[in-house]
Parts: sequence; C-alpha cells; structure tokens
Amino acid sequence: MGRRWMKERKRDTYYLRAKREDYRSRAAYKLLQLQDKFHFMFEGMRCVDLGAAPGGWLQVELEIAGQKGRVIGVDVTTIRDLDGAILVKGDVTDSRTIDAIRQELNGNADVVLSDMAPNISGNYDLDHERSADLVLTAFSVAGQLLEQGGHFVAKLFEGRRSREIREAVSGSFRNVSVSKPAASRKQSSETYIIGMDFRG
Ligand SMILES: C[S@@+](CC[C@H](N)C(=O)[O-])C[C@H]1O[C@@H](n2cnc3c(N)ncnc32)[C@H](O)[C@@H]1O
Repeated sequence: MGRRWMKERKRDTYYLRAKREDYRSRAAYKLLQLQDKFHFMFEGMRCVDLGAAPGGWLQVELEIAGQKGRVIGVDVTTIRDLDGAILVKGDVTDSRTIDAIRQELNGNADVVLSDMAPNISGNYDLDHERSADLVLTAFSVAGQLLEQGGHFVAKLFEGRRSREIREAVSGSFRNVSVSKPAASRKQSSETYIIGMDFRG
C-alpha cells in the first residue's frame, strides 16, 4: 500500500466512521444513503447481494431485513462469517453460482443488489467495459431471481455503454434512476443504477 493512499485513508471520514461503527467497509454508507433516497429494502425482505465481500453492505441488509428476512451474500473471494447471512462463494458469471443462490433462496428474491467491481486497471475505458459487463451479468441474475415488483441496484463505472445499460434496465423496471451517494468518492466514475418495480 502506498504512503499517500494510507494518508488519504486516514483522513477519509467514512473510513473512520466505518471503523467506529463496526462496519466491514466504508461502502456500507453508500448503501445506507441509497436506501434513504430510494427505499428499496424493507423488513422481511429476501435479498441477494452480488460482490458482497468483505460484507459492509451485508451488515446493512441484515439490520433492515431483521429476523424474518433472508440475506444471501455472494463473492468470488471468501466472506468472513457473518451472523445471520447466508454466504455463497463463486463467480457470478458461472451458472453453478446462480444454481447455488437459487437453492439457498428457495423461491424468488425481493431485492438483488450488486456492488461488483472489476480489478481496477487504471485504464478508464477498460475499467468501464468490465464494469458494464458485470452490471449486465447482475441484471441477468436479477431477471432470473426477482419477484414481480422487486428491486435492483448495481454499481457502474460510467462510460460509453452507460446509456445502453440504462435502456436495458428501463425495459424491465417501471422506475429507473441513476445516483451517486455522498459516500462515493468524487474522483471515482462510479454511480449506481436503481431499478424499482420489476415488471416480471
Ligand atoms: C467493492 S467490493 C464490494 C464491497 C461490499 N459491497 C461491501 O460493502 O463490503 C466488490 C466485490 O466484487 C467482487 N466481484 C467482482 N467480480 C465478481 C464476480 N464475477 N463474481 C463474484 N464477485 C465478484 C470482488 O471480489 C469484490 O469483493
């Protein structure tokens, strides 16, 4: 880790807040801010979180879903055990991973979320292309798992294909928005696309 990066991290209020409030990542605040604005999560929900490691979003989902909910976290890397969460290890582009999620769900999902990100190359166009592919994968998974009326949220590094993605999501959800929560770093091209009310 570079010195400058370490210094910046120490000054980052969301990083410090996550440490203080026991969230596994500062990303938790992005989900909380999106939820404040769009209200796509609710008590008792069945929620699938794609790209969930290390688990900050999962902690927020568990708080909202409560005892009656079902929260499934999926990642290609290992997610440390988290009380109440069902963890699936696998690549979301692999159909065996989707089969494993389906087994754990035992029905449809109310909410499918994706904070998946490619390994950053530093090449803006390439990172966008990879991110766009991940959003389309998450969108396809949402199409397979969501209950009619369900909701979808996915992270996208903005670029050439952003419009194509918005149009695709608009075809399946009644309300579509794009939002950049305050906790998302200004210098990052990341935004979130929110599809509400799945047409089924
Ligand atoms: C920004 S992190 C997610 C942070 C998480 N939301 C949190 O709050 O802790 C992105 C994650 O996406 C995962 N990921 C990227 N591509 C994936 C894929 N094809 N299948 C499963 N997970 C993937 C990465 O392993 C990484 O852990």
